This record gives sequence, C-alpha cells and structure tokens, in this order.
Amino acid sequence: MSNLDAAQLFSVKGLVAVVTGASSGLGEVMAHALDVNGAAKVFILGRRESKLREVASKAKNGSLIPLVCDVTSKESLEAAVSTIEKQTPFINLLIANSGYLGEVSGMVPRPAEQTLAGSYFTFLAFLGLLGAGNTHSDSIGKSGLLQSQFISTTSFGGLCRAEAPSYVYNASKAALSHLTKTLSSEYAKHSIRANAIAPGTFAYTPEGDISVVGSLPWQAIPVTRAGTEEDIAGAVLYLASRAGAFVNGVHLAT
Ligand SMILES: NC(=O)c1ccc[n+]([C@@H]2O[C@H](COP(=O)([O-])OP(=O)(O)OC[C@H]3O[C@@H](n4cnc5c(N)ncnc54)[C@H](OP(=O)(O)O)[C@@H]3O)[C@@H](O)[C@H]2O)c1
Repeated sequence: MSNLDAAQLFSVKGLVAVVTGASSGLGEVMAHALDVNGAAKVFILGRRESKLREVASKAKNGSLIPLVCDVTSKESLEAAVSTIEKQTPFINLLIANSGYLGEVSGMVPRPAEQTLAGSYFTFLAFLGLLGAGNTHSDSIGKSGLLQSQFISTTSFGGLCRAEAPSYVYNASKAALSHLTKTLSSEYAKHSIRANAIAPGTFAYTPEGDISVVGSLPWQAIPVTRAGTEEDIAGAVLYLASRAGAFVNGVHLAT
C-alpha cells in the first residue's frame, strides 16, 4: 500500500514546471513547494531579474531557474520558450500565476490585459512543451497517468459579488476561470488538463497579522483568516502530483 503513502502520493519528483509571477508572493511559494518536493526543474518567470535570482538562490534543492519574461508581450513569451527549449524538451506543468490588481474602482484595462490575455498567451506559447510532457521518453507524464497540466491563478474576487477590490480585476478573474474551464474541455483530446486555483486573501496588513482566525469577514473568506504559505503550497502539490492526476476543469478555491 505504499502507493497511498502521502509522501509518494503528493510527491512531484521529476516534474518539470514553469511558474509565471514567481519573483514574489504566491508564485514564489508555489515554486519553492515544487522544489522542496522533488521537482527536477522549475523555471520561474517574472520581469525583475534580481528578485528572480534571489528566489532561486533560496531553493532547498536548487531546481529553480530564473528567467526574465513579461507575459503581456508575445515576443517576450516566445523568447522565454526558446530559452527553456534549450534546457528541456518538455514540461509537465505550467502555472500562469502573474497578476495585477490595478485601480480599485476604475475600469482601466491593464488587469484584464495581464490576467486574461497574459494567461491565455502564456498557455498558447507553452503548448508545444506541454504536449511533449505526455510523450517524451524522459518525462514522468509518459506513463499516461500524469497528463500535462495548465493551472491558472484566479481569485476569490472572481467568485464573490460582495467584495470588489477592483471591478475590472474581479471580472477578469471570473473570465479567466471560465477560460480555464473551456481549455480543460477543448484540450482534453490532447491530454492536456487545465485547472484553476482561486486564492482567498493571502496578505499581511500594516495593522497586523490577518492569518489569525476571525480577522476577515466570513462573507468574503469563509475560514475568516488570510491564507499562509502552507495553504497555497498544499493546493499546488495536490493538483501537480499523482494525488490530483484525475482532476481536470476544477476551480479550487483556497
Ligand atoms: N495575494 C492575494 O491575496 C491574492 C488573492 C487572490 C488572487 N491573487 C492572485 O495571485 C497571483 C499572485 O499574486 P501575489 O499576491 O503573489 O502578488 P505579487 O506578490 O505582486 O506577485 C505578482 C507576480 O506577478 C509578476 N508579474 C506582474 N506582472 C507581470 C508581467 N507582466 N509578466 C510577468 N510577471 C509579472 C510579478 O513579478 P515582476 O514584477 O518581477 O514581473 C510578481 O512576481 C496574482 O494573479 C493575483 O491576482 C492574489
């Protein structure tokens, strides 16, 4: 019954992944969670090279590879893919995590551009490498049990109507959720899965630690506290590992 052992079931040993928006915040934690649990290579993308290098230098198993990329630029995405192709013939997991809140009450397009177009073009740019994750002889996806996967980072803001930190941000996250579900259906025939993680609030306020139960209104965040590193790492490891290999088209709110 060792196949049911959590250390094996949730292991990401040998996984090759790309995480955008990994120079800080949730993306940084996701990348470290993959590194600590055995990923072979994790390409971490963002615009700030010094921050990416700093994140990579802290990796326990040294699997994080920094790469400057702006997901709002197709040229930048293409350049990132061609750099990655020189270092791996496939990837198993792509996390489109970069995001931008934007104006609180305005209807400026930048969050939509970043969230929706940025995530979609990221998906398209990496399709070839994701496909190879299902077929390449060195890939852990070759067995067919761990099909390649796209994960988008959406938001609780795209799920609830009452709490609107930014109208256009919330709307763009709701749209990204729908896009992810559509991709999960469309690309099933290519054995590429698509799932979304909708984080609740993961932040510290200047007023104090809001990861304590009772800090946040239950109407917005049912567990009434901000998320911690363990909360986001757990969600990513579940979806990325054998434990989540049967999952396609879900919106995991955490
Ligand atoms: N924190 C929360 O409470 C929360 C809640 C719900 C959803 N989210 C979502 O979670 C994701 C991560 O947010 P976070 O809170 O961790 O924010 P964060 O610390 O500001 O991280 C955002 C990341 O995105 C990168 N980024 C921004 N624009 C980019 C671009 N054009 N191209 C490539 N990378 C870009 C940033 O790096 P560079 O500046 O180096 O490019 C940074 O690494 C976002 O999608 C956000 O909407 C967060």
